[in-house]
Amino acid sequence: MSQRVQQRRLLAEIACVFILGCVGVVQGVTLEVKEGNSTCIKAELSALFSVVYNVANGTRTAFVPLPDTTTVGSRSSCSGGSGAAWLVASFGWGHSLSFTFSRDNSLYRVDSLTLQYNLSDSATYPGSSSTGLVTMSTASTGILAGINTTYRCETASPVRLGGVTVIFSDMRMEAYMPGRDLSTNETICTADYINNAAALKMSITVPPPTPPAKPERGNYTIAYGNGTNCLLARMGLQLNLTYTSTSLNKTVQQLVNLQPRQTKNTGLCEENSATLWLLEKRTNLSFSFTLNSTSSKYYLSGIAVSATWPDMKEPFSGSNRSLEYLQGALGHSYMCSAEQTLSVVPGFSLNTFQVQLQPFGVNGDQFGSAEECQLDEDHMLIPIIVGATMAGLALIVLIVYLVGRKSSHTGYETI
Ligand SMILES: *[C@@H]1O[C@H](CO)[C@@H](O)[C@H](O)[C@H]1NC(C)=O
Ligand SMILES: *[C@@H]1O[C@H](CO)[C@@H](O)[C@H](O)[C@H]1NC(C)=O
Ligand SMILES: *[C@@H]1O[C@H](CO)[C@@H](O)[C@H](O)[C@H]1NC(C)=O
Ligand SMILES: *[C@@H]1O[C@H](CO)[C@@H](O)[C@H](O)[C@H]1NC(C)=O
Ligand SMILES: *[C@@H]1O[C@H](CO)[C@@H](O)[C@H](O)[C@H]1NC(C)=O
Ligand SMILES: *[C@@H]1O[C@H](CO)[C@@H](O)[C@H](O)[C@H]1NC(C)=O
Ligand SMILES: *[C@@H]1O[C@H](CO)[C@@H](O)[C@H](O)[C@H]1NC(C)=O
Ligand SMILES: *[C@@H]1O[C@H](CO)[C@@H](O)[C@H](O)[C@H]1NC(C)=O
Ligand SMILES: *[C@@H]1O[C@H](CO)[C@@H](O)[C@H](O)[C@H]1NC(C)=O
Repeated sequence: MSQRVQQRRLLAEIACVFILGCVGVVQGVTLEVKEGNSTCIKAELSALFSVVYNVANGTRTAFVPLPDTTTVGSRSSCSGGSGAAWLVASFGWGHSLSFTFSRDNSLYRVDSLTLQYNLSDSATYPGSSSTGLVTMSTASTGILAGINTTYRCETASPVRLGGVTVIFSDMRMEAYMPGRDLSTNETICTADYINNAAALKMSITVPPPTPPAKPERGNYTIAYGNGTNCLLARMGLQLNLTYTSTSLNKTVQQLVNLQPRQTKNTGLCEENSATLWLLEKRTNLSFSFTLNSTSSKYYLSGIAVSATWPDMKEPFSGSNRSLEYLQGALGHSYMCSAEQTLSVVPGFSLNTFQVQLQPFGVNGDQFGSAEECQLDEDHMLIPIIVGATMAGLALIVLIVYLVGRKSSHTGYETI
């Protein structure tokens, strides 16, 4: 059996050159499993792993992209074209992502997805309190397509394996292939159908150049597999990051706006937790919301970030899972027009602008009635106080005038 790996240049990268010098793009990789002269599995995809692991003080989240140096592992197999087939993508120090396929007469599917990662790799998992290989697996991947068709899913789609989430995007994959190339007939995933209108709109908007002072407001939605929305968020985001600059050889602090039009969003909703991922070429963010079912209140409980910006000496990553920001009541949305600063870890904070969000109890595509944040209420108070003060002053002036007039009048009469 021979295996081959090719690198694929993402269209995004070409586009990227026109916008800014891009570094740290989540690369697309092409992987092929062959038996004799025929190819049985071919996959073109980008993948990002969000791994929660233990450190001395608690937990940390690492974002690990499937690198362009990924190779097809020797455990990959075609099984003569009818039984189970395996695609093993190996990368780095003992990390691998394995797909197990099965088929019947009309469909093929990914029966299981297994991630093996190496906590001894301290470059990827700094400060990990345990070492060695960890294996996580899931049988529910939702990847399923007709025989002789290519499975296509451009939308970023998460697959949960215990504490790890694999986010696939720009995926084109086929198993039990009739020819050497991906079939031109495609099975399009549900998420792409749902996002089709939005994607079309996105493709004709030209991204603006350098970020303006105030970030553009993005519109982010998460839906269950059946298309029902479970999280709605509208907000402008600005990252405030401190890092070591290579060119200046010193610590610098930089503000960068998240560009909604170049950001993919995806997420997972569960009964008492919801996670929203915002993935941009050089910046990944995750927001975890928790619902306290006793008090029927929700809040932003965790934020994780990874950034690979030009001129950074090393990529920045940080996470904090013990936050209590943006609190709201179940059935209502949280709203804050004023700018807020969310401190996450030393060296990283997030400025939010014009936030409206609802991570639980969403009904259709409308926000529940809004609960204004304290800052907004304070802002509303200022005009009221100013107004009241002005009215008070006017009254005093009037009284002084009337009293003055009366006394001068009286004075005149006595004379
Ligand atoms: C592989 O293809 C080459 C050229 O197309 C052919 O000569 C060779 O016999 C094939 N080998 C197998 C095992 O089919
Ligand atoms: C972990 O805890 C130690 C002592 O409790 C503290 O000095 C250190 O800064 C903490 N690290 C992080 C990343 O919070
Ligand atoms: C795990 O990572 C460590 C440190 O990079 C390396 O020495 C070890 O060989 C790796 N394990 C495997 C199975 O590759
Ligand atoms: C798939 O294609 C192969 C080769 O072209 C053909 O023999 C087979 O019948 C096709 N199967 C289906 C389900 O279309
Ligand atoms: C979609 O799935 C969610 C969660 O599984 C469920 O609560 C909701 O009722 C479903 N919606 C429809 C229209 O089936
Ligand atoms: C960015 O963060 C630094 C501290 O890390 C703070 O001094 C500065 O005011 C922040 N700037 C903005 C615009 O939030
Ligand atoms: C960067 O700065 C450090 C100390 O501030 C110095 O030791 C080092 O030589 C500098 N490196 C370069 C490439 O200038
Ligand atoms: C949920 O809210 C109740 C009442 O406010 C509080 O006592 C409890 O500690 C909260 N639970 C969690 C897990 O935060
Ligand atoms: C996480 O955020 C909390 C609340 O802002 C803060 O007290 C704590 O120090 C942060 N933890 C880390 C590791 O920065």
